[in-house]
Amino acid sequence: MEAMNTVSDTFGRRLRDLRISVTDRCNFRCCYCMPRDVFGADFPFMKSSELLTFEEIDRLTKLFAGLGVRKVRLTGGEPLLRHGIERLVEQLIGIDGIDEVAMTTNGSLLAKKARTLRDAGLGRVTVSLDSLDPEIFRAMSDVKLPLDRVIEGIAAAAEAGLTPVKINTVIKRGVNDGQGILDLAAFGRDHGYVVRFIEFMDVGATNGWQLDEVVPAAEIVNTLNAVWPIEPLDANYVGEVAARYRYLDGAGEVGVITSITQPFCGSCTRARLSAKGELYTCLFAGIGHDLRGPLRDGATDEELLQRITGVWKARTDRYSSERTTATVGLPKVEMSYIGG
Ligand code: GTP
Ligand code: 5AD
Ligand code: SF4
Ligand code: SF4
Repeated sequence: MEAMNTVSDTFGRRLRDLRISVTDRCNFRCCYCMPRDVFGADFPFMKSSELLTFEEIDRLTKLFAGLGVRKVRLTGGEPLLRHGIERLVEQLIGIDGIDEVAMTTNGSLLAKKARTLRDAGLGRVTVSLDSLDPEIFRAMSDVKLPLDRVIEGIAAAAEAGLTPVKINTVIKRGVNDGQGILDLAAFGRDHGYVVRFIEFMDVGATNGWQLDEVVPAAEIVNTLNAVWPIEPLDANYVGEVAARYRYLDGAGEVGVITSITQPFCGSCTRARLSAKGELYTCLFAGIGHDLRGPLRDGATDEELLQRITGVWKARTDRYSSERTTATVGLPKVEMSYIGG
């Protein structure tokens, strides 16, 4: 392998993880991500000619790997809507330096695709699932698809060895908290899935976020602990997003993601690549840095590397640590545009 450069931002944070959005489309309309009144039939989604091709993604990922990226996560919108995604997985896992390719998906197409994805080299999946109550599931994801389809998808992923299967649950006060938390935790305990409860975040500008709809992770931890005692676990790696806990009775692991009450910007090593090739250095960023333009205009690897390095070195993002009532209304990229 070529000599490896690492690159650090203005706070000394390295570039370690690359989250690649492969489409801005999704077959769900989750209330906290793509509310249907905004993302309706007339919404101007990207045209397929605008999307980075797999070859372009592969080329950029090689450059990112040369700068220290070890982990790639494919996201969307819904990444399984991108035709032939398994071919991309195969390309990316073959890149020198990339140790793992994972995916965040809504699970609706997983029952069909889990085996092929595994065979292509996907390491594991994280599936978004907000409730085990069909009514609440439908209300939150705003989709007609039966809840069972997602549950079957999760089972298929486990069966195919895309493990540990993680489940992402966004908790909204008064919607899926309380018993909803316990039901999902029990589901994880029974099947060996790692459920992570996420504080509802003010990503994008369309989800009508309000602080009083956030259930603090400490409250979630207390809810769990009262039924099944838990204790904190060390992070799997520096900068892990979820705070991990283990059930004292040995029934596995559970996590919370505390972007609102305990921000984790200090160790944030994540870069995000939008489906049309813009580099975002924060989930809450207002703008991205175009890489597709130079790429399609014939830039050399050296020129692209310089651009990426320049953006990362100048990085000052720490949105979650600086969040105030005033920042909530700032223009921010939509989550469906750059993945979670
Ligand atoms: P692993 O640790 O590799 O399993 O994955 P992960 O926790 O990085 O990935 P995942 O995509 O499942 O992240 C979980 C959720 O945490 C995302 O869907 C986001 O809601 C949130 N999240 C991830 N990264 C960030 C981040 O950099 N900042 C903030 N504020 N939230 C994040
Ligand atoms: N707050 C917290 N998490 C969110 N996600 C999407 N929108 C939000 C939000 N507003 C999470 C979903 C999914 C991932 C892609 O991002 O749960 O797992
Ligand atoms: Fe789709 Fe995931 Fe956003 Fe829900 S959270 S609308 S499944 S991209
Ligand atoms: Fe990283 Fe931005 Fe999230 Fe902070 S808010 S952890 S800087 S992505």
